[in-house]
Amino acid sequence: MNDPLDSIVAQALAQFAVLEEPAQLEQAKARFLGKSGAITDLLKGLRDLPADEKRVAGASINLAKERIEQGLSERREAIAQARLDARLQEEALDVTLPGRRRGAGGIHPVIRTWQRVESIFRSIGFDVADGPEIESDWTNFTALNNPENHPARSMQDTFYVDAKDASGLPLLLRTHTSPMQVRHARTHTPPVKVIAPGRTYRVDSDATHSPMFHQVEGLWLDEQVSFADLKGVYTEFLHRFFETDALRVRFRPSFFPFTEPSAEIDMMFDSGPLKGRWLEISGAGQVHPAVIRNFGFDPERVIGFAFGSGLERLTMLRYGIGDLRLFFEGDLRFLSQFG
Ligand code: PHE
Repeated sequence: MNDPLDSIVAQALAQFAVLEEPAQLEQAKARFLGKSGAITDLLKGLRDLPADEKRVAGASINLAKERIEQGLSERREAIAQARLDARLQEEALDVTLPGRRRGAGGIHPVIRTWQRVESIFRSIGFDVADGPEIESDWTNFTALNNPENHPARSMQDTFYVDAKDASGLPLLLRTHTSPMQVRHARTHTPPVKVIAPGRTYRVDSDATHSPMFHQVEGLWLDEQVSFADLKGVYTEFLHRFFETDALRVRFRPSFFPFTEPSAEIDMMFDSGPLKGRWLEISGAGQVHPAVIRNFGFDPERVIGFAFGSGLERLTMLRYGIGDLRLFFEGDLRFLSQFG
């Protein structure tokens, strides 16, 4: 009587042992304990036995049934545990792996120049001012002695904004940082000694011009500031910026409506790859009396100089970069060299 039950139990346990899927396990359970399962059949067979045998046989069958149920729940747990282990394994963090770094950002070469320029001029007593990129026609042109309809305005063709300022004047993207001379001088009293670096805009685009570029404006006004001071300050700046005294500076007559006399500042390196070539580096001049008046000062008492230099130009000369467009293409192969 024991042998067939034992072999049913052994069969059941053997079948359970190889199954990995809970659904398959439930099907296997049905083969033994289901409505027409092996154990159920045996239980049904008890009906035909005499009462005393029924009791003994019934007890053994129930025992077998319990062993199968026990095997079943052990296997269920084993499968669940195996799944959990697999998941933990899969999701495990290896805390000894090196971390994924965020790429370290770097400072854009033009902004490096901007920062160098600020620190050099601060160290020789200049304030640093900042102003709007959208300017009124008055600050950008008229106050700088650039009368309406004067042809000199077309030297600086720009982008007009579809709006007017509080006094109904056209608004535009500033074509130079010179409007900052006006803004700063009109809100300060001499001595005024300031630089104003920032973005500027013109309708211009080639290897040496970009529709957006950077300038730094300089302005020094007092009762006795001369062209000699301009030369001294600017030459000192170039020596510090290029970290060499082996360069020459010359002033070439030029024209700007807001300065008189006006000059282009040229420089020449005495060594290095650019040695021996005069390079245009800045516009400059003595502030025009009409502009001093627009600042709200008396041109009989207040005098001084201004300059406006391109930050891209300074950067290109410092690092030997040939094409200005490289600054704005966002190519990391180029930019990361300055990190
Ligand atoms: N604003 C002039 C330009 O952009 C440069 C300049 C500034 C010239 C100050 C003289 C004095 O071309």
